[in-house]
Amino acid sequence: MQVAWQLFNYWSIRNLLYRNFKVDFFPIKAQNIFGARRGGGVLVFWWHILIMSNHTDIFSFYDVLAPDYDSMTGFKNRFEREAPVIKKIVEQYSIQTALDAGAGTGFHSLVLAKLGVQVTAVDISEEMIDRLKENSKQLRLSVDTVVSDFERLTDAIAKTFDAVFCLGNSLVHLLTDEALQKTLMNFRSLLNPKGVLIIQILNYDKILTERKRIQNIKKKEDTTFIRFYDYCNDRINFNILKLTEKEGAIEHTVNTIELRPIRKDELEKFLGRVGYISIETYGSLQLEPFNKHRSSNLVTIAKRGKL
Ligand SMILES: C[S@@+](CC[C@H](N)C(=O)[O-])C[C@H]1O[C@@H](n2cnc3c(N)ncnc32)[C@H](O)[C@@H]1O
Repeated sequence: MQVAWQLFNYWSIRNLLYRNFKVDFFPIKAQNIFGARRGGGVLVFWWHILIMSNHTDIFSFYDVLAPDYDSMTGFKNRFEREAPVIKKIVEQYSIQTALDAGAGTGFHSLVLAKLGVQVTAVDISEEMIDRLKENSKQLRLSVDTVVSDFERLTDAIAKTFDAVFCLGNSLVHLLTDEALQKTLMNFRSLLNPKGVLIIQILNYDKILTERKRIQNIKKKEDTTFIRFYDYCNDRINFNILKLTEKEGAIEHTVNTIELRPIRKDELEKFLGRVGYISIETYGSLQLEPFNKHRSSNLVTIAKRGKL
């Protein structure tokens, strides 16, 4: 009874601290003191406190980016360009329900909803999810939303899906093997028995060979966004330089986040390790063949298999 009470307190306090301060903690040792020999006593937990520093970076990076995300990525053009491609995937894999993991402002969620798929969108950034809600209101499409970290998805979502989509280079935000593995496991346990996981990231085999610094330049009215990389050993710093012309002067801000560039073989290895089967790799969402040296994207589709 006493243990149940302590566990209840632990979960409530943990959720409260995590949601508000991005601090996590967990018991590393339980010790029965005072009367242990008599079979009673008080169970004392020794706590390990973990400040979610990488997560704090992700929150602040995307919370800052949220108001600009749609104009920087060209929401409207993207809709026209990518919607037919997503439709083909939905038909090919008979997808009626989907989780859009790392949904951002909801571009893929809304394409899927428009195709009649029942969508749950999840993202770690509350600001991005707020934009998603505005976009879905404007387009009059319905999408369920959840704010959660990928690593805690199975606590946050109680249903399963025909497909988990993790698109738009979201997966490279997971910096450690543990985070990547836990996330892929969580995606797998949220799939129906015949469900598929569809991942799209950039082709880092090509990027790490070419080592180009400028990734993209986009101008929208008075604002220019320059997306560029710094290569730091096995990590990449992804920067967004925003230049705004105001009364003849140019103001600037830089927003930076660390990425883990995942190569094709590494991703396939992790997927196999956590139990996915029939892992297929393509060079685009159009499901063109993957070419390590030429493809811009790495698209991987894997089946859940038996749990
Ligand atoms: C590059 S954006 C892609 C958004 C959207 N999929 C698209 O294609 O426009 C990556 C998104 O993943 C989310 N994200 C990154 N790490 C996450 C994590 N550990 N858990 C949940 N969401 C995460 C970010 O907040 C961000 O909205």
